[in-house]
Amino acid sequence: MKLQFLIFACIIFKFSTAILQNVTVRGVTFCNKKPVAKVDVRLVEKDIVGQYDTLNRVRTNEMGEFEVFGEKNEYFSITPILQIIHRCNTEINCLRTSTYVIPEKFVGSVYDMNLIALDLYDNDETYCHNLLSPWAQ
Ligand SMILES: *[C@@H]1O[C@H](CO)[C@@H](O)[C@H](O)[C@H]1NC(C)=O
Repeated sequence: MKLQFLIFACIIFKFSTAILQNVTVRGVTFCNKKPVAKVDVRLVEKDIVGQYDTLNRVRTNEMGEFEVFGEKNEYFSITPILQIIHRCNTEINCLRTSTYVIPEKFVGSVYDMNLIALDLYDNDETYCHNLLSPWAQ
């Protein structure tokens, strides 16, 4: 029994070499045709059990530009997701999180999103955090 377990463990180990994978995402955020400065941009990764890991976070500069790099050791191909947390066209005390899945072919290179219109609700997970609530981040 112990020997069988040992053999099994050896097989698992042999096939489970994690690979360090990276991605760089860049773009310019706009709201109502104006660039948005100081927007919270997060590069996250959804792992095999559905947990989100933040790889890195940055803020857009005065011209709305950002570039974020992230890397992670994974057994499988990483699934990077860009989250932009902003107040474009929201009600007062609300934040929106727009999410963009980064296509797998850009893992290991640069995904240039160019112009990102935060006005659009297509990729919006539409969280309306009440900033006055004690649970607000
Ligand atoms: C990102 O990954 C690619 C492909 O594995 C590699 O060639 C490149 O050097 C990595 N970049 C950085 C900054 O680690």
